[in-house]
Amino acid sequence: MLKAKIEKALNKQVELEASSSQFYLSMASWTESQGLTGTSTFLYHHSEEERGHMLKLVKFINERGGKPVIPALVKPPETFNSIKSVFESLLEHELNVTDSINNVVDLCLSEKDYTTHNFMQWYVSEQLEEEALARTILDKLKMIGNDKGGLYMFDRDLELMVQQMPNETQK
Ligand code: FEO
Repeated sequence: MLKAKIEKALNKQVELEASSSQFYLSMASWTESQGLTGTSTFLYHHSEEERGHMLKLVKFINERGGKPVIPALVKPPETFNSIKSVFESLLEHELNVTDSINNVVDLCLSEKDYTTHNFMQWYVSEQLEEEALARTILDKLKMIGNDKGGLYMFDRDLELMVQQMPNETQK
């Protein structure tokens, strides 16, 4: 049985993963409207992944006899200043997610809930990958600057990257 404190922390994480999914969906839609089809494909995929992260938590809470709380949706921004600002926001958001996951892991240790601690290790590795990817993308965008040809290649590269990505929920 899950302790109330752990259940609360996991449900907070459910909410954060759900809001990540909404946030990236909004980014995907905006980049699509800007003609950046590869970038939008990447962000639609990312949004789905976040939904997968949320589902994994919901199922785990149920499995442990807890009560998952499905959160209300927070409206994300509708527009963004630039593609660079999209990925800056994405990285900033992921850093917050990592902080939150680390807090859950800390709590698991102090509450001696080693099962949840073990479960959360998947999220710890996932965050490492996601942060690294967001940084690589931002570095590329900084290199491109205002070069339209560079942006065209960047957009095409993101499309190719998605095709090579495993389905997170099947990992
Ligand atoms: Fe599920 Fe990107 O945090």
